Amino acid sequence: MAIAIMCSGGDSAGMNPAIKTFVERALVHDEKPYLIYDGLEGLIDNKISPASYNDVSNIVHRGGTIIRSSRSKRFFEYEYRKIAYENLQALEIDKIVVLGGDGSFRAMGQFYSDFKINFVGVPSTIDNDIFGTDYCLGVDTALNVIRVSIDQIRDTASSFRRAFVIETMGRDCGYLALVSSITSGAEVCIIPELDFNLKSLGERLKSQIESGRIYTLCIVSEGSRVTDEIARWVEEDVGMQARVTILGHTQRGGKPTVYDRLMAFKFTRMAVDKLLNDEKSYQVVVFKDSEFEFVSIEHINSQKYQIDPELLILADRMVR
Ligand code: F6P
Repeated sequence: MAIAIMCSGGDSAGMNPAIKTFVERALVHDEKPYLIYDGLEGLIDNKISPASYNDVSNIVHRGGTIIRSSRSKRFFEYEYRKIAYENLQALEIDKIVVLGGDGSFRAMGQFYSDFKINFVGVPSTIDNDIFGTDYCLGVDTALNVIRVSIDQIRDTASSFRRAFVIETMGRDCGYLALVSSITSGAEVCIIPELDFNLKSLGERLKSQIESGRIYTLCIVSEGSRVTDEIARWVEEDVGMQARVTILGHTQRGGKPTVYDRLMAFKFTRMAVDKLLNDEKSYQVVVFKDSEFEFVSIEHINSQKYQIDPELLILADRMVR
């Protein structure tokens, strides 16, 4: 029987180093590695090819994923999962490493209960919103992309006496906005996890402006859904000209950082070894309290991810 890898959901930096490790590790074990292209959609459409060392050379430094990804609606339907299963059976694949988020792991959990296809999930999303793991592949690269953007915006903000409202991704999770605000020394941080008080924030900013403040940086997570409201508040209440920058998909690109490459190697090596050593597996490899471990899909789905309270405390001065 053979082993395969695929990406599912939003791509993130670190997927390519993970794919490289997957192929190399499978070959070390004398296993035939397969690449599933286009995620769950490709699984249904039989876009599955055997891989050699050559297929994964010259990719370790590249962002995105060479095997592409997708968000599949069809996979929710049993008839398409059955087609996917038959495609795997024809190639004798019964083990899959899945790089994705919790939605993808849930889909694979269903696939396992339908057809007993073993899998290990590797948490991969810039949102860092998966319960059970402190880190998801791609987060460090996304944070560094955001850092570069904020540093550049600061140059123009300070040249013009302006406020910049910068919206980060993260879906409903404020992790990217929180860490970016703290590490870029922003004045305002708006995330779903923290209540904010525009009245007291406004008063403080106005008095700082009177004492010489030239520019202001407000970081807002997309999940807060108040980017335009914050820009209006800056103009009308704080009295500073405001510009909005939505960083958008720039945050999903970029060469994986050293940290993401290392994490990709560690996560994926563990995933491959688990699948090859255990008879049955439908788990996720997580990084919790500085240790790697395997947890069940049920565990991942049991709670909503919560940002570390010690990190939230650091945003105190930016919310009120
Ligand atoms: O989950 C990753 C993510 O980039 C989110 O931060 C964002 O809300 C979403 O995906 C965007 O999805 P899409 O690329 O499908 O527009």
